[in-house]
Amino acid sequence: MTNVLLVGNGAREHALAEAILLSKENSRLFSFMKANNPGIAKLSEKTKAGNYSDLPAIVNFARENKVEFAVIGPEDPLNNGVVDALAQAGIAAVGPTKSLARLETSKSFTRNLVSKYNIPGNPQFKVFNATAGLEAFLDELEGIVIKPDGLTGGKGVLVQGDHFVTKQEALSLCKQILAESQSVIVEEKFDGEEFSLQCLCDGKTVVATPLVQDHKRRFAGDSGPNTGGMGSYSCPDHLLPFLQPQDLAEGLAITQKVAEALLAETGSPYKGVMYGGFIATKKGAKLLEYNARFGDPEAMNILPLLKTDFVEICRHIINGTLDKLKIEFEHKATVCKYVVPRGYGLPASHPDAASSRARIAIGDVGKARLYYSSVDQRADGLYLSSSRAIGIVGIAGTLQEAEKIAQDGVKAVQGPVACRTDIGTQELIQKRIDHMKKLRGI
Ligand code: GLY
Repeated sequence: MTNVLLVGNGAREHALAEAILLSKENSRLFSFMKANNPGIAKLSEKTKAGNYSDLPAIVNFARENKVEFAVIGPEDPLNNGVVDALAQAGIAAVGPTKSLARLETSKSFTRNLVSKYNIPGNPQFKVFNATAGLEAFLDELEGIVIKPDGLTGGKGVLVQGDHFVTKQEALSLCKQILAESQSVIVEEKFDGEEFSLQCLCDGKTVVATPLVQDHKRRFAGDSGPNTGGMGSYSCPDHLLPFLQPQDLAEGLAITQKVAEALLAETGSPYKGVMYGGFIATKKGAKLLEYNARFGDPEAMNILPLLKTDFVEICRHIINGTLDKLKIEFEHKATVCKYVVPRGYGLPASHPDAASSRARIAIGDVGKARLYYSSVDQRADGLYLSSSRAIGIVGIAGTLQEAEKIAQDGVKAVQGPVACRTDIGTQELIQKRIDHMKKLRGI
């Protein structure tokens, strides 16, 4: 019997809960959640509600239930130092310490680390703590990206062409960010197609999981505001149709070098997930950012494909023996579509904004898998929150079949909800392929 603590309450953690319980070790799940996820609650031996900054409550819950180790889902508890607090109580975790989680929580830390250790993949960039030199650097760049230097829930990055047009606008946005926080990062904008490379790391060994493409924009055709991610897909060959094998090789090599650099820089091995957000360009794979956890929705694409026991994987991450384990995934396609409140991502003044907090009903999702995210289970039914509600995942031999399973599953959710019907469709994927062919001149 292996008691495992899971920290987190989203659809990513619902998929993690499922993977932990599928272990042949007869694992028992103890879940610490900020909000009650009915899917995780159903799979858990015991749950505890609390805030992710309440580290004593998390440690006490772990102790009381004699957990062998913890799996940390989201970035907030990592940023709060939950792994350090658990370590002080003698409890190991899959997830980096607060210092190592800077890989995600400080964009300047990661850019500077990649530069210092001569790792390829960085754009031209500069970190500014004041306005001196800002205007001159903006003039040097053909396209501009502006990033606040902290956690932004994937929504804080400002891209020229999407969020602003002129250099003067860029300058005033940088000034606004500097008025509110210590630093701002200004980077060169890349043209290409993005991909998520989620790697498992024990401090030395880095293992790639199947590549996934997420869709940040709220509406079909990649239009509308940025969100936490509206859905994602992966392919049976574990690559993506618009990539060349070299793109994966470069992303993996960068991640391996970053893991070595983290060890050299901090003296501590990184144990957890290094999720690289990369972009394939005409000059190869470039690094957009790292996250110190699985992606949401991307976790829902890869965890259900695992053939290797997830609890065993966790133990090898903790013990630093990932090189001894063969990690295998099924060769199947996956499509995840997030069902969201119709008003998700829209301004409060929008007529659909009232859809948040409405009651929904879920019928038969057919062959699809259902992962709860931000929903509120009350005595009289299931309610939406203002965020992504339910991840519906189709898994099949081909993308076309997986997309159909996911789309059919989505129809089972009744209420004022929406999803992106184009995710995983051939039409959208062909646009990515054509874009990369044009950039590569082939
Ligand atoms: N898929 C975006 C994220 O997990 O940050």
